[in-house]
Amino acid sequence: MQALANKRIILGLTGGIACYKSAEFLRRAQDQGATFDVVMTAGAQQFITPMTFQALSGRPVHTDLWDNRSADNMAHIHLSRDADAILIAPASTNFIARLAQGLADDLLSTLCVARGDCPLIIAPAMNKEMWAHPATQRNIAQLKADGVHVIGPGSGDQACGEIGDGRMLEPMQILAELIAFFQPKSLAGKRVLITAGPTAEPIDPIRTITNRSSGKMGYAIAEAAYQAGAEVHLVSGPVRLEAPYGTKRQWVQSAREMHATVMNLAPNMDVFISVAAVADWYVTNASQHKIKKNAEQNAPMLEFAPNPDILADVAALPQAQRPFCVGFAAETEKLIEHAQAKRLRKGVPLLVGNLAQQAMDADDTQLMIFDESGHQQWPAQSKQKAAQQLVQHIARYL
Ligand code: C5P
Repeated sequence: MQALANKRIILGLTGGIACYKSAEFLRRAQDQGATFDVVMTAGAQQFITPMTFQALSGRPVHTDLWDNRSADNMAHIHLSRDADAILIAPASTNFIARLAQGLADDLLSTLCVARGDCPLIIAPAMNKEMWAHPATQRNIAQLKADGVHVIGPGSGDQACGEIGDGRMLEPMQILAELIAFFQPKSLAGKRVLITAGPTAEPIDPIRTITNRSSGKMGYAIAEAAYQAGAEVHLVSGPVRLEAPYGTKRQWVQSAREMHATVMNLAPNMDVFISVAAVADWYVTNASQHKIKKNAEQNAPMLEFAPNPDILADVAALPQAQRPFCVGFAAETEKLIEHAQAKRLRKGVPLLVGNLAQQAMDADDTQLMIFDESGHQQWPAQSKQKAAQQLVQHIARYL
């Protein structure tokens, strides 16, 4: 799925060393289907050449208000007219000040003043003292009041050798923010708790019992919920995935650990989506030390007890503390029958079913949605797309 299909973006670059990151951003955003017209200030051209962006975007780069390539010499008006957004990355201290003042003294600033209702997004990039300066903070507050969408800045090492706030977001973070910008904000102001991945039940300090869950579905839902405007808490078993941008992740290993973490967070949440493939049993006689092979080669005798049912326990919280609960069911057969029974058994209003053999570790999935009025089958699609559809669907129940 291309998250920015058919989007035309004006990428504005102003003077700053972070210009090099914008080249990478542009490539990754093109992978998502976006088309770019690039506009560079004189300052930006001190850091990176228009040629780089012409080669990457496949279109001429605009640098000059007085460029006579446009027949009527009004590139500053035409460029933004059918654009979906103007993104300025990096946005320098100076450019932010000029924007706040409404100055129109080069192509990019004039374009911004002339943009009409084309959305403007800026990714500030500067030294931490420049960012903290009262004038910069005043200008940022003014821009926000004017409806400009400010993304970042991040914090950390700076090119000047100092450490602090003011770094431009990383290319993939800017991309995540841009994709989120275009998503409907159906979960704005909502707090969403999601479990994802497998659990790992210790046998000894080295060995665990686990399952084949990759975490991809739960992570895609966390990403989609953030894009829909939610505050997202992800409680994750061991997986090899990066936390989706903007989400708060807590690692857990065993089901009992996941249970404790979830029960602690759940009463403050609006929605709980239980995607984790939780182990049904844990080993009661797990060893403190590595179990050694003995001379007779006897396999160790493991004893099991059932794990707590996290979803059922959240669904049984008193109403004032209970988030809207969504369960998952991965079945290998008789999906409809098992999923309907599971929804009632767990006491949840909404349950999402899929076939384990199709969904496990795959990038695509086909979801079936069960609620009190029956069930509906969704098309096979990427987990990202399914997650967005699910998030919009959940929002309707709230
Ligand atoms: O009982 P079963 O594992 O089939 O139910 C699946 C649903 O219940 C999923 O939403 C899963 O995250 C949740 N679950 C749970 N705690 C368990 C077992 C499953 O929250 N111990």
